[in-house]
Order: sequence, then structure tokens, then C-alpha cells
Amino acid sequence: MNIITEPTEIPHSAERSPRVLVPTMGALHDGHLTLVKRARELAGDDGEVLLTLFVNPTQFNNPSDLENYPRTMERDLELCREHGVDLVFAPKDGSMYHPDHSVNVTEDALSSRLCGATRPGHFAGVCTVVLKLFNLTGSDIAVFGKKDFQQLAIIRRMVRDLNVPIVIEGVDTVREASGLAMSSRNVRLSEAQRNDAPRIRKALLTAQQAFHHGETRPDQLLDMARQTIEASDACAVIDYLELLDAENLQPLEKVTRPAIIATAVFYGEVRLIDNIELDAE
Ligand code: PAJ
Repeated sequence: MNIITEPTEIPHSAERSPRVLVPTMGALHDGHLTLVKRARELAGDDGEVLLTLFVNPTQFNNPSDLENYPRTMERDLELCREHGVDLVFAPKDGSMYHPDHSVNVTEDALSSRLCGATRPGHFAGVCTVVLKLFNLTGSDIAVFGKKDFQQLAIIRRMVRDLNVPIVIEGVDTVREASGLAMSSRNVRLSEAQRNDAPRIRKALLTAQQAFHHGETRPDQLLDMARQTIEASDACAVIDYLELLDAENLQPLEKVTRPAIIATAVFYGEVRLIDNIELDAE
């Protein structure tokens, strides 16, 4: 496995094709590794899997979140070796942005709600670094998780609107046995918080079940989910809980089109996100 730390040293992909990119911020868990497995399948015998490890400072709007973001480089590299990654790009601090970096990619519609509303500047940071990674690596395909539903939708929109020559592949959310969505931030939860956090999934499932039983009013569905989260024994605080059109991420009066319920919940300083799809015909 080849490890590269300078953006200028990424080899051209001409010899092995397709090149399949898995962008991450490290602290790898089974969610990331499922993306790697999918990338390996898409790459086949002739292609290569390139994983990036970079805690991108420009997408953190909260300095303490950036500072406390887990960093486990040696273990990450070991996991990459075990899972058939061919190339790791782990840029050194300061090598990704020029000191006077001044061009950013912003998305103006899908970013207006959910994480875009509560984390100002977050998606400009994500879009900018992801486009840089696409350009630096010349990848043919890039794999992203549906756990970050809004991120995936925005990246698809960026690729469409800026004619970026890459195919985007989405992978279902990987969960712990408890139902809690895997996240690099889960290691920062106390035992009590970790035992409580599966209620986020339960809340979303409760709303989905009610939808399957015929409830199509967003407020009713959201109330059910809210009650389950607010019954928390570990002081869960809802950052947002919204039901939106799955295509354009705008509010719906009734669930008559495919929709998502997305939530962000704070346990102390740790913010967890999750979502569930409502498949209206
Ligand atoms: P990070 O949070 O490290 O996630 C990297 C990729 O793993 C994302 O596509 C994310 O959706 C996916 N992922 C995380 N947890 C998952 C889970 N439980 N199931 C399935 N997929 C999961 O997302 C980022 O990094 C950054 O914003 C990045 C795109 C790398 C840009 O800096």
C-alpha cells in the first residue's frame, strides 16, 4: 500500500482503472470500511482504491469539535492495508490550502437547512475540499455514505452543476447492533450517553412505522420522533429534527413524495446525526 502525504505526489491513474476514491477524515470504523468494500468491488481487479485521511479544518465551525476530533492514523493505515486499499492520501498539515486560499465552492439551495443551517460554512468547507480531492486524484468514481444524507445530496448537485467528470456512489448507513449509526464521534460518548443514543434510531423508526400505517402529516410524524428523543435519560438535546423532500431537501405539506426525516442530537458536546427515508410512491 502506497502512502502519500504531499498533494503534488499523487500518481496519475492512467495505469489502473477505474480509480475509486473514498474520502474520509480518519478515525476509521466499520461504516468507512463498508465504503472501502464497495469501492473494492467497483474497482475490480484492474482498478485501484484510493482512500484519503484528512481532518479538513475548513468544514469545522466549532474549534473545540476540530480539536477533539479523534485522530488514529496508525490504526487507520493498518485497517486500510487489511481491507485492500491501494493508495492512501494523508496530506500533511498545511499542505492542502495555500496560506492565501481564497476560492471556495458554495451550494445555495440544498445547504439552507439541517446541518447547513446549524453549522454555517460547513458545506462550503466540504464542497471545496471534496472538489480539491476529485481534482488532485483524478478519480473515476467516489463513494460516500448515506448517513450524511445532505452531504451526499450536495456533492451530487456539485458534480451535476459543475460538470465534474466523476460518478458518485452512495452506501447505506452502517449501524451498531443497538441501531446507533456508526460515527467517529461515538468514542467521545460516555457509557450512559452511548446506552441512550440508540433512541435516535428508535425515534426515526417509530415515525417511519407510523408513515407505513398511513400517517402523512409531517408535524405528527416529527412529534412522535421528538417525544422518543426527549424521553432521554442522558440529556439528549435536539439540534434539529426535520422532515424534507428527499430530492430538494425542502419542507413538504404531506408525505406524498419520497422524503427523509433527518436529525442532529447533542449529547453534551458530542453531536450525532442520523436520518431515515420515507418511500412514498
Ligand atoms: P467522515 O465523517 O470521516 O466520513 C467519511 C465517509 O464515511 C462519508 O461519506 C460518510 O458519509 C461515511 N460514513 C460515516 N459513517 C458512516 C456510517 N455509519 N455508515 C455509512 N457511511 C458512513 O464525511 C466526511 O468524513 C467529510 O465531510 C469528507 C467527505 C471526508 C470531507 O472532508
